[in-house]
Amino acid sequence: AQTVARTADGGVQVGGIEVARLAEEFGTPAYFLDEDDFRARCAAWRDAFGSEADVFYAGKAFLSRAVVRWLHEEGLNLDVCSGGELATALSAGMPAERIAFHGNNKTEDEIRRAVEAGVGRIVLDSFQEIVRVAHIADSLGKRQRVQIRVTVGVEAHTHEFIATAHEDQKFGIALAGGQAAEAVRRALKLDGLELIGIHSHIGSQIFDMAGFEVAARRVVGLLAEVRDEHGVELPEIDLGGGLGIAYTSDDDPREPQEIAKALSEIVTRECEAASLRTPRISVEPGRAIVGPTAFTLYTVGTVKPLEGLRTYVSVDGGMSDNIRTALYDAEYTVALVSRRSDAEPLLVRVVGKHCESGDIVVKDAFLPADIAPGDLIAVPATGAYCRSMASNYNHALRPPVVAVRDGEARVIVRRETEEDLLRLDVG
Ligand code: LLP
Repeated sequence: AQTVARTADGGVQVGGIEVARLAEEFGTPAYFLDEDDFRARCAAWRDAFGSEADVFYAGKAFLSRAVVRWLHEEGLNLDVCSGGELATALSAGMPAERIAFHGNNKTEDEIRRAVEAGVGRIVLDSFQEIVRVAHIADSLGKRQRVQIRVTVGVEAHTHEFIATAHEDQKFGIALAGGQAAEAVRRALKLDGLELIGIHSHIGSQIFDMAGFEVAARRVVGLLAEVRDEHGVELPEIDLGGGLGIAYTSDDDPREPQEIAKALSEIVTRECEAASLRTPRISVEPGRAIVGPTAFTLYTVGTVKPLEGLRTYVSVDGGMSDNIRTALYDAEYTVALVSRRSDAEPLLVRVVGKHCESGDIVVKDAFLPADIAPGDLIAVPATGAYCRSMASNYNHALRPPVVAVRDGEARVIVRRETEEDLLRLDVG
């Protein structure tokens, strides 16, 4: 985040506050989110796409009521994928028409709540869901705006668990074999649905625009088929999220401006070639907005040098606050932030306090060789999919999220307490 700075004595400031002070006030582990940076990223995406396109922030990356308010104030829309995310969005005042509802297995109850609330779109993910949503909308006397999510058959170069556009996975309806065309056929026949467009999401942490190009081309191809068969030009396409961020210096992310330009050029070109009116484009960045805005602050508890192997630095959190290293082999960096050290760099593995050896936060990192219990270390770029995927494994208490801005810090999601845990345990 831009507003993180080293102070003269080797400490670190974020949003104008010393990290050591933050640790004292809020404890560790904790996520510190730079509100100005979050808002600036929202604005960058909004401005890059302009009035001709819509940006939906993917709430799964991290959602809280404060975040919903910021999104609303910055003019972004919101993508939710569960009843819980929907409830959070509505309770913080996001207008329902600016919400998109996703998911491959939305329950009837979730669908009913979304239709009742009047969400701007529901993204249909299966043949059953086409009928289910139409039926629920009918029963409520409504016509629901929907998009159909298609799988375009692109192999995005990312981890298998977060790639979504190849055919052998659970999301969407395949373009291949005319399945998506059949889905459109069915949706157009149902009174409860207003089909407004086609949706594609090819995966996450992607740097190469080539996959988006192929996806856009294939989605426009479907629009042309739909026009030819039904005489209808669907007015919207959504190209999903998935834009990568820099976790380490090896990553080279694209700027929103560049992404917007590339996507709009491809879609316009393909539409011209097919003599189609250019549809309204939408995108759904999650990680690219919130990922870089936060870091996790930990306190070092033990330092264990293993002769001839490496040094294990254990912190007071771990896979319960960041599962991404264990789950995706994700890479992070780490820095000593509570003091200056001129000691030699030492190759370490930063691990958590959980009861398994895969509980790794940063696999290979350098910290000063005098790293010691009590030191504060920060892992940057943990704004996305860390708090939102946090767990209570080993009855860990999920850390707070603290928003920092203009020299002030305020808790937006408080730390869990043992009382919270025990309250759920009613046996
Ligand atoms: N739209 C749809 C339909 C999605 O499924 C996703 C992510 C996004 C947008 C936002 O993608 P983003 O811009 O944040 O990459 N937990 C994983 C990532 C799974 C993402 C699932 N869907 C991780 O920690 O990397």
